[in-house]
Amino acid sequence: TTKLILDLDTGIDDALAIAYALGSPDAELLAITGTFGNVTVDQGVRNALAVTELLGHPEVKVYRGLPHASRVGSFAVSEGTRRIHGANGIGEVTIPEPTRGPESEPAVDFIIDAAATYGKDLVIVPTGAMTTIAAALAKAPGIKDQVGGIVMMGGALTVAGNVSAWAEANIAQDPDAADSLFRSGAPVTMVGLDVTLRTLLTTAETRTWRALGTPAGDFLADMTDYYIGAYAAIAPHLGGCGLHDPLAVATALDPTLVDTLPINMRVDVDGPTRGRTIGDPARLNDPVATTLAAVDVDVPRFLGRFMERITALARG
Ligand code: BDR
Ligand code: CA
Repeated sequence: TTKLILDLDTGIDDALAIAYALGSPDAELLAITGTFGNVTVDQGVRNALAVTELLGHPEVKVYRGLPHASRVGSFAVSEGTRRIHGANGIGEVTIPEPTRGPESEPAVDFIIDAAATYGKDLVIVPTGAMTTIAAALAKAPGIKDQVGGIVMMGGALTVAGNVSAWAEANIAQDPDAADSLFRSGAPVTMVGLDVTLRTLLTTAETRTWRALGTPAGDFLADMTDYYIGAYAAIAPHLGGCGLHDPLAVATALDPTLVDTLPINMRVDVDGPTRGRTIGDPARLNDPVATTLAAVDVDVPRFLGRFMERITALARG
């Protein structure tokens, strides 16, 4: 089994990523660390606590990450993001308040400790602003040689961005952090829009969750229908919602789901293309490429596994 730390800005597809991890017999969800993006850190931590409880796993520990990019002094959720994930981040669905709180240790320190403890068995999956994981690598650069990998959802190499023609949302939240992650030398797999916009969910699937007649099934269906509705309004040509963050978790557990291109990546941190993820010309001919950029995905195999695992979990 792979030990996972999910570093989430718990919005809708992040919550689906939690469900995927909890429904995976080949995964051990060590903890969730909270970042910002779809929601504030505090809202994301609260969502992670509440969602794990609703899904029957109150034992999952949740740590609080950094609340904003280092370059700016604060963070506020954008109007566009609120339209996609809802003001509460989980599609305006009301679920019981969590009965437990976050751990007192900061997420950065927890990640550093976990890397030393679990080594190659540990894969970290950041699916929001890369601020916390970048800070952990800056504080303890040795992590890069300890962990099994960092499978991040973010960026776009072969397709356009989703917040601008260049930038994908998780990178746009903190381009400096994403750039330092790519340059850290850590073994990064980039699961970007190149692949996540090919793995789509529709109401045909959410109906099967609702038909289970369980609180978890109702929650997952209601929350995801909000997301599907937002995608229908914003990107009707897709015909469904992108399973961004669950695909990153699935790839962390089974890298054969995607085809990757080894390439040293960088992020444009200034200028009009701020937030763009692109191959680094200065490191193009380095003997080792530390990033594997996913450029293709086995859609039926992933979608089949996604439905199987999440439906089994929601059945209870
Ligand atoms: C990414 O941005 C967030 O809105 C989603 O949760 C996902 O991690 C997609 O661009
Ligand atoms: Ca996310």
